[in-house]
This record gives sequence, structure tokens and C-alpha cells, in this order.
Amino acid sequence: MAAKGKLYFGNIVDTNTIVENGAVEILKTEFGMFTPEYSWKWAFIQPNQGEFKFEDSDKVMEWAAENGKQIRGHTLVWHQNIPGWVDAIADQATLTQVVRDHINTVVGRYQGRVYAWDVVNEVFNDDGTFRASVFYRLLGEEFIDLAFQTAQAADPKAKLYINEYGMDYAGPKIDAMLALVSRLQSRNVPIHGIGSQTHLTSGRVDEVPAQLKRLASTGLEVAITELDIRVKRPVDDEKLAQQKQEYELVTRACLDLPSCVGITMWGVSDKDSWIPSTLPDFDAPLLWDSGFGRKVAYQGVDEALQMAARVNLG
Ligand code: XIL
Repeated sequence: MAAKGKLYFGNIVDTNTIVENGAVEILKTEFGMFTPEYSWKWAFIQPNQGEFKFEDSDKVMEWAAENGKQIRGHTLVWHQNIPGWVDAIADQATLTQVVRDHINTVVGRYQGRVYAWDVVNEVFNDDGTFRASVFYRLLGEEFIDLAFQTAQAADPKAKLYINEYGMDYAGPKIDAMLALVSRLQSRNVPIHGIGSQTHLTSGRVDEVPAQLKRLASTGLEVAITELDIRVKRPVDDEKLAQQKQEYELVTRACLDLPSCVGITMWGVSDKDSWIPSTLPDFDAPLLWDSGFGRKVAYQGVDEALQMAARVNLG
């Protein structure tokens, strides 16, 4: 990836995979940027108000430092994985202070050590309306301004991202994202990047290059932040061959786009993926099989990388 002008090819890591032999060797040799899969989320770090627990998140940070790896922080304000006490807040002033405290403490702890933060995650419903999270209900759209401004002050060098899924095809959600980013820019909110999670379904990936370009048209950097391509059960060789082509296409979409800085996979082995437990009709979304053998999908990524011309970051 670096030879082709990009910043990184990345993956998730956390306290589970750090100690898993098959996974950790692949993480160390194949990837340069890491997103903590769960231990940096609000419910893990601040389960009770004012009680911060950094044991696990520190382990991830230390692992990255020891191995010369970079980190994408994930995530500060998200409707999921927030503790009950945050969901129960009922007034604006309290929630504003709580968001400030959380971001200041977490971003401040790792200041200067994180390449980018997913400051807000999944703020939209699929129809492009704002998700009725406690943050939106009490603070309106400006919860986003608050989160970015606070993060900027806590780590002025980190790239600040808005992260979202379902922007892989034309529709109201990506339209809403483009409109929101334009409003944030006109309010001078310090936003630097759009993360497209890119949790894909095999058979529905053709529009990825075009939609990624639309995100780049904002002038912000873009990144593929949580890549996997799930296959409908029962999985067979034909479906895996199609998945290979799709991995090639998605990898190329980032390589060809000057402002796409990198790709992060959401897992190593199919057996550790979040997909089978979350979407039981699907399986086999990643590049390594359950025995840590390279799937043909791996060759798809590899071929895209071999064939690509160098495109310097825009
Ligand atoms: C998932 C993790 O993979 C799971 O282990 C965890 O239980 C729930 O979250 N979008 C995101 C990620 O932004 O944080 C989610 O990760 C997957 C969907």
C-alpha cells in the first residue's frame, strides 16, 4: 500500500487477538494500522460516570507501540456500546458536560499517539434521517460539532473522522452524509475525514468506487474503515471466487482514488469475525479461513495491489 502512495493497510486488534497465535502473526506481518475492535468504546472505558478503565485499551496501545504499528481510535460518540447511565441522561447541560469529559479524558490519554479518531459513528438511519440517539434527542445535530471541537482541542494533531456504514451505493444515507459534511464545513467544524465502514454483501459491491469518489468530492480524506464482504450461506467455491473479484474491486477503488488514505479490514480469520453472530445468514467475510489459511480473496487484494499504479495522496 505504501509503495502505491497510500498510508496503510490495516486491521482490527484487541485483547483477544493479541494473544491468539494464528492471528497475531498475521497482524504483525501483513498490517500497519490498527483499530481496536471493542476496548476503546465508551461502555468499556467509562462504564460508570467518572470511573475510567484503561487497562485493556492501554494493552492495545502498548502492543501497537512495541510492534511499530499505528492506531485509529474507535470510537468516541456512538449510539451503541454506551453505558446505561449515558442513555438515561435527560438534560442538555449534563449531556454536554459528559460528552466533553469523556472525549477530553480518552483523547487526552492517547494524545499524539493516534493517527485518526472516529469521532462520531453511525449518526444516520438508512433513510438519511438522524438516528434518535440520546445525543441527537437532547442536543440535535450540534452534538457532532461539540464532539469534533472537543476532540480537536484534546489532540490537535489527530485526524478527525465521521464514520458510517451503508454508503456503498446511491441512496438517502450517502446523500445525507454529503449534506451534513457540507454544513459542518460551513460552520468551520474541525473535520478531516470520512470513514466508509464498507461492511459489504457479496453481490452488491459494484457501486463502491463511484460512491467513494462522491465522499472524496467533499475535499476531505476518505478511508475504508471496516472492510468485510459477507457471503450468503451455504458458502461454496463459486461464491468465494466471486468474493475474490469483489475484494479486488474494492481494493482498487481506494488505490485509484487520490484522497483515499488506506483500507482497514474488520478481522483476520473468518472464525473471529463479528458477522456470523450478528447476521447468521452470512459467513466467510474475511481474507483468511478458520484455520488461518489464505483464501482466494487474499489473492484478489494482492492482485489489485500488484497491478496498481502509484497514486500519490491528493
Ligand atoms: C463490532 C465488533 O466487531 C463486535 O466485536 C462488537 O461486539 C460490536 O461491534 N460498526 C462498527 C464497529 O463501527 O464498531 C462494529 O464492531 C461493527 C459495526
